[in-house]
Amino acid sequence: MTAKDAPELRLRLGARLSAIAAWIPAGAVFADVGTDHARLPTAVVLRDPQARAIGVDVRAGPLSAAAATVARFGVASRVELRLADGLSAIEPGEVDTVTISGMGGERMVEILSAARASAVLRTLDRLILQPNTAAARLRRWLVAAGWALVDERLVCARGHVYVTILAQRGAQPSSLSSPARWSEDEWLLGPHALRRGGPALITLLRQELARCRRAETGLARATETEEVLRQRQQLARRRARLEEKLEEKLETRAGATQGRSSRPGEEP
Ligand SMILES: C[S@@+](CC[C@H](N)C(=O)[O-])C[C@H]1O[C@@H](n2cnc3c(N)ncnc32)[C@H](O)[C@@H]1O
Repeated sequence: MTAKDAPELRLRLGARLSAIAAWIPAGAVFADVGTDHARLPTAVVLRDPQARAIGVDVRAGPLSAAAATVARFGVASRVELRLADGLSAIEPGEVDTVTISGMGGERMVEILSAARASAVLRTLDRLILQPNTAAARLRRWLVAAGWALVDERLVCARGHVYVTILAQRGAQPSSLSSPARWSEDEWLLGPHALRRGGPALITLLRQELARCRRAETGLARATETEEVLRQRQQLARRRARLEEKLEEKLETRAGATQGRSSRPGEEP
């Protein structure tokens, strides 16, 4: 039985994939690279009758899981599946949007760099990217390649914060300063998240701090080459900055909470 025969068969996306789906425009034709189970493209075409998708995966196992999802929900005519590396099986002009999630930012940069050489990227309107790691590296690549970081969202799921980046061609949004003036923190945490603040930024700061401390512990055991010393210094500087930023945000939050709980004219 398919979703067409049984409308109660609906695919519910969790908060992480919903953040990506929210930025896919109505009627989009999109490629979901690293589609695995194909939950994202299936859910999008179920909710939007005009949308079509190409689910791509480099491994046959995930692609057969994708085929099972697509068949179960009766959307095989609108979700095509391709076994391929990155965007290598997508023709220029074939899709207007690309989504990539559930892999590291370094791998996303590799996929996008390869596609840049093949002209596929020039025909795209938007990229929606959710890197597990190395978001700063991905932001730097996108900006250098002429993409604007139009928006970013932080999503907390199962105790982890995921950053979702919406990139489009053209100038950076006027709400942001020029990337030439972005601080290390803006590259690392995202210029939008830093401007917005809020509880998700505090969770992201804690997460990045933990990542930094783990890397420092790893390097403490390494042989002291010049490169190792350089990396240690870099990590120590990053940790100090993150600790300072976290303290600042926690103080701001405490101040706001105190302000709310004290009445006008009363000592807090
Ligand atoms: C952890 S799953 C993520 C699934 C889904 N996108 C999500 O966010 O839930 C990562 C998938 O990316 C695929 N993958 C990794 N590198 C890839 C590449 N270069 N091209 C296509 N697929 C890739 C893997 O085979 C795997 O199925």
